[in-house]
Amino acid sequence: MEKMWAGRFAQELAKEANDFNSSIHFDCRMYRQDIKGSIAHAAMLGRQGIISPEDTAAITEELGRILEDLECGRLQFDMECEDIHMFIEKVLTERIGEAGKRLHTARSRNDQVTLDLRMYLRDEAAEIIRRLKKLTGILCDQAEHYADSIMPGYTHLQRAQPVNFGHHLMAYAMMLVRDMDRFADAVKRMNVSPIGCCALAGTTYPTDRVWEAEQLGFERIALNSLDGVSDRDYCVELLSAIAVCMMHLSRFSEELILWSSWEFQFIELSDAYTTGSSIMPQKKNSDMAELVRGKTGRVYGNLMGTLTVLKGLPLAYNKDMQEDKEAIFDSVDTLKLCLDIFAPMIETMSVKEDNMLKAAKEGFINATDLADYLVKKGSSFRSAYKLVGGIVGDCIRSHQVLEDLPLADYRKYSDLFAEDLYDAISLKTCMEKRISEGGTSPASVKKQIAAVRERISG
Ligand code: ARG
Repeated sequence: MEKMWAGRFAQELAKEANDFNSSIHFDCRMYRQDIKGSIAHAAMLGRQGIISPEDTAAITEELGRILEDLECGRLQFDMECEDIHMFIEKVLTERIGEAGKRLHTARSRNDQVTLDLRMYLRDEAAEIIRRLKKLTGILCDQAEHYADSIMPGYTHLQRAQPVNFGHHLMAYAMMLVRDMDRFADAVKRMNVSPIGCCALAGTTYPTDRVWEAEQLGFERIALNSLDGVSDRDYCVELLSAIAVCMMHLSRFSEELILWSSWEFQFIELSDAYTTGSSIMPQKKNSDMAELVRGKTGRVYGNLMGTLTVLKGLPLAYNKDMQEDKEAIFDSVDTLKLCLDIFAPMIETMSVKEDNMLKAAKEGFINATDLADYLVKKGSSFRSAYKLVGGIVGDCIRSHQVLEDLPLADYRKYSDLFAEDLYDAISLKTCMEKRISEGGTSPASVKKQIAAVRERISG
């Protein structure tokens, strides 16, 4: 097939060089954006008198038809073409002749490709935000349901203080809310139009970049043509927002896996989101959560890969930049897939409240509250801390827990102890009395849920 740029060349491109060079097998997914961009470009050219009204009409109509034909499968991508931009222009020219050849006036593939990518990615970012909202809503529902369910809260993976399961789930909801903000923020800088920067230096035609940008829903235009065609910051920012979001899902996955283990038995994931073993009949594996955790690695890789491709690139466009797309597409697809699986996995998990409570009872997680009890009776915190440390040590040796140690024994340590200590160290009190802003009390959790629901509504 003769290349559009064949004029300068005496020899055809080698088959393997053509395959190596071409990007249509992955950039074909931007066909809608490419056609939409071209329709706006033709309109701008017509409006500015750069091409005739007849040509504008012919181009616009035929591009609409090409879109329809692609959507319904009447037209297939030609994988011999170098990229989606060349393909659409080739089909257009085959169909309407000379007018089609005028479309590429006052633009270049260098501004066209980054225009398409920005439009594609801003839609994907909006889609990701929608899915994040859905998952966050499910977390709020579950958190509301379990706002009284006591579990051990951990630090260093050692039982630390009692929290409720709703509080723990809401911690993840907060991360997802920040993720939504990060995506929305990335879109602000993504939503800048590069079209009209042309190859690198702008153009001598009397174009109207602002009008064209408005037609395509952009907030602003790139103010420097060299930067406009070279800027891939928006890919890096999106890749990075995706990486952070996957990091959150990965931490969550790790906890789901841990909680599902025989050792913890805090939750059971639904059969629909777990798998068995080919050899061990007793097994129920958290494959989905493990895969989310695993896929986080490739998403980090896409971010590092793209940063590395861009590092050291001179201005303006270089073919290296074609490498941006597979990485960003893969990260976007991966995150969407993970969010799709996560939402129902969380919605259908069963929570074993009894086991959580049992674990909470066994770990001396009310020791801080026992020390606080002594402080309220007049002791200094440090002395109380030391005394309680001694009591805990003695209890471990005598296989007792703080709630069951008789008052007479307590009074051997300090005569500040009285009957009311048992209420002060009951797990329910320890959890419910943590009423500080953002603390684990059910009242505080309900506040958190309300704030997050407000944030994701609409
Ligand atoms: N397929 C190319 C890419 O993805 C489009 C831009 C090509 N521009 C050029 N001057 N070769 O980056």
